[in-house]
Amino acid sequence: METRILNFNEFGDDRGCLISLESMKNIPFEIERVYYIYKTKSEVTRGYHAHRDLKQVAIALSGSCTFVLDDGLSRNEVILDDPTKGLLICSMIWREMKLFSDDCILLVLANHNYNEEDYIRDYSSFLKEVRNICN
Ligand code: TYD
Repeated sequence: METRILNFNEFGDDRGCLISLESMKNIPFEIERVYYIYKTKSEVTRGYHAHRDLKQVAIALSGSCTFVLDDGLSRNEVILDDPTKGLLICSMIWREMKLFSDDCILLVLANHNYNEEDYIRDYSSFLKEVRNICN
C-alpha cells in the first residue's frame, strides 16, 4: 500500500519543541499546498475520496484522529496522535478520517494545488479505476 509513516526529527530543549518540514528532505515531494482541518465534530467522518494524482502528508499537530485507508484490496486504520509523525498517502488511496478529538488540528501538505477534477468521490468508481490500473 502506498502509505507509510514518516518520523520527523524533533528539536527539543527546555523551551519546548520544534519540527521543520522541507520539500524533498523530510517531505518526499515538492510542497505546493498546505491546509489544515480543525474544530471537526467528534461524530463526523470526512474524506470519502481518493485522488488520481496527488501525494499528501497528514500530521496531527494537536490531538488525534483516525485514518481509514483503502487501496482497493485491503483496508487499514492509522491513528495520528503525535506531531513527530506524518502519514504519507500517495495517489489512488481511498481515505476516510474519523474520531477527531476536540483539540485535533490536522495539517496536510500536498504536492499539487486544489483541483476538484483530481478527486474520485464515489467508492464504486474508485474500485473500477484502481482495478484498471492494477490489471
Ligand atoms: P472536502 O474535500 O469536503 O474535505 P474532506 O476531504 O476533508 O472531507 O473539502 C471541503 C471544502 O473545502 C470543499 O468545498 C473543497 C474545499 N477545499 C479547497 O477549496 N481547497 C483545498 O485544498 C481543500 C482540501 C478543500
